[in-house]
Amino acid sequence: MGNGTENREQWGSRFGFIMAAAGSAVGLGNIWRFPYITGQHGGAAFVLVYAAIVFSIGVSVMLAEFVIGRASGLNAVGAFKKLRGGAWPIVGWMGVIAGFIILSFYGVIAGWTIAYMIKSFTGLMAAGAAGKAGDVFGAFVTNAPQVVAYQVIFMVVTIWIVYKGIGEGIEKYCKIMMPALFVILFVLIVRGVTLPGASKGLEFYLSPDWSKLNGATVFAALGQAFFSLSLGMGCMITYGSYLSKKEVLPSAALTVAALDTSVAFLAGFAIFPAVFAFGIEPGAGPGLTFVTLPNVFAQMPGGMFFSFLFFLLLFFAALTSSVSLLEVCVAYFKDEMGWTREKASWLLGAVITALGIPSALSLGGKFPKIAGKDFLDAMDFISSNVLLPLGGIFIAVFVGWVWLESGKKEANNEGKVPFAWETAWVWIVRIVAPVAIAWIFVKGLKW
Ligand code: TRP
Repeated sequence: MGNGTENREQWGSRFGFIMAAAGSAVGLGNIWRFPYITGQHGGAAFVLVYAAIVFSIGVSVMLAEFVIGRASGLNAVGAFKKLRGGAWPIVGWMGVIAGFIILSFYGVIAGWTIAYMIKSFTGLMAAGAAGKAGDVFGAFVTNAPQVVAYQVIFMVVTIWIVYKGIGEGIEKYCKIMMPALFVILFVLIVRGVTLPGASKGLEFYLSPDWSKLNGATVFAALGQAFFSLSLGMGCMITYGSYLSKKEVLPSAALTVAALDTSVAFLAGFAIFPAVFAFGIEPGAGPGLTFVTLPNVFAQMPGGMFFSFLFFLLLFFAALTSSVSLLEVCVAYFKDEMGWTREKASWLLGAVITALGIPSALSLGGKFPKIAGKDFLDAMDFISSNVLLPLGGIFIAVFVGWVWLESGKKEANNEGKVPFAWETAWVWIVRIVAPVAIAWIFVKGLKW
């Protein structure tokens, strides 16, 4: 027990690992959440704050997670047990719990993407042409059996990939889906920015509105950065545990953060020009993707095809992320409880799917609200705004204060590879990240 390091599975190549880690990072958070949050928080001004957080605190915490994972060769809980023990494994525990919670509602929204791929060909465009995509959405999310059915389909695909393992499952499929995602995104951007009237959308997206910049913006940017980079719950610890000792970690963290940020930023180029070209309100809020965009696609020549492509893009993004969430839980039960991968994947996957059913029902108002929030929003809030930042603080403090010398050695492969930003990294994990996250957390935490 507690020793998964012998014969542990490994990534087959650096490319495969980067695709898997970027696959985890690039998800609904980038394509569904980032554009509308940017729209709500002052466009380009928000993008700048966001990028500053990603490339200081974000990459540093990611590197800290890779380092903890590779040094221990274990899951999030086992890693802390092995490297220090004491109360530290609680950080890993919080991560595994966050994994259960996030995947429970993530699977629901990801299921919508499958439904919408099909709807692209069955009436969504006709409704959109009449500006009625909102009705389609309303009818869909209140139809509980349908929402749950698509959630189950999505979860079965997720479970199956995780059950296949690291190399033959997660890595293999991320190596296909991530490049495909970039190609689709590129097609949609070209389509978007070449529409007549697209420039108004670019202006909205790119001209900074500094007046909207305040404490709430910074809080939103930090929460978004942690969620988008898959940080604070041991996801990158788990992925790091399958890395070979030869891999260079600092550049891997930079590459993953850069890929993640590019996709988020580029998604805005696929979306806003099209929205403005057809004179549709950039419907602030989560409905942007499932309501505004179908209305937009319906007015384009070949809209059916672009609508399908867009939801396929979202599906790939969601699937490469959901497997990483499940893997955090599976790795824990495998390493620490001695379960087989098969048992852990199917059993935990089933439990998480069941946990997601209240979220699935809450959208149609069929589940009681929790202190005024829909169940799904409440789950999102507890995980993204509470568990992830707390996890981030503890991970930074662990590497910065408790385990620094070993951490540095792991980060520069015992001095064998150059690590140009080592000093910056050390100060960020020691001081900047814990203080900044704690400060923003205390100031910004509003239910
Ligand atoms: N990063 C993913 C997204 O942007 C979601 C995700 C996957 C995640 N694994 C995670 C979020 C771990 C937090 C922690 O959609």
